[in-house]
Amino acid sequence: MNEKILGVIFDLDGVIVSTDNCHYLAWKRMADEEGIAFDRTINERLRGVSRMESLAIILEKASRQYSEEEKRAMAARKNGYYVELIASLTPNDILPGAMDTLKLLKQRGIKVAVGSSSRNTPVILKQIGLSEFFDAVADGNAIQNSKPDPEVFLLAAKLLNLNPSNCLVVEDADAGVQAALAGKMRVLGVGSACVNPTATFAAENLEKADFESILNA
Ligand code: BG6
Ligand code: MG
Repeated sequence: MNEKILGVIFDLDGVIVSTDNCHYLAWKRMADEEGIAFDRTINERLRGVSRMESLAIILEKASRQYSEEEKRAMAARKNGYYVELIASLTPNDILPGAMDTLKLLKQRGIKVAVGSSSRNTPVILKQIGLSEFFDAVADGNAIQNSKPDPEVFLLAAKLLNLNPSNCLVVEDADAGVQAALAGKMRVLGVGSACVNPTATFAAENLEKADFESILNA
């Protein structure tokens, strides 16, 4: 018998808010300036992955080696472009079904948390008006190892005072699905991860997710 779901931990980028395209545009600008080939296919591999690990993936296509100092500068430049883009986010950028899902879970007495690799999580939550909404926020500022390591989700469960076995993760990244399973949590794959065969549940997006049956599974 499965243990009851008492908490749901949401990834942020691509699950709650449509920032995944902002990440793409910011990396694309940086890569174009450096003359490094980068497209949406490579971008899929950056989902859920930390800023420096994302840069390492992009640099696989670079024609020369970059020093650690240059890498830090490139990551900072990308983040500058990204911060410019997210400055115009509003509650309208909350993805379809996300708000209704969050409200339904709260009505049911289920705790809700954010589990994101992003160090920009506090800024984004502020922009979309959800700074005070979640019972816990675990993000890239508080962890050492980013997804597929389970650290961010285990921290979120701990902050919610719940066992991992009582938590469900919602993810759009394969790295995040892997992280949730490594943390012994069930996972709903949405967006790009809805075709991930290892996810416990799948839905195209939160609007299409059947939480009634997920909570009773
Ligand atoms: C994740 C994104 O949520 O955060 C990744 O899916 C991103 O694409 C990572 O690299 C880190 O984000 P930030 O905002 O700390 O650069
Ligand atoms: Mg994501």
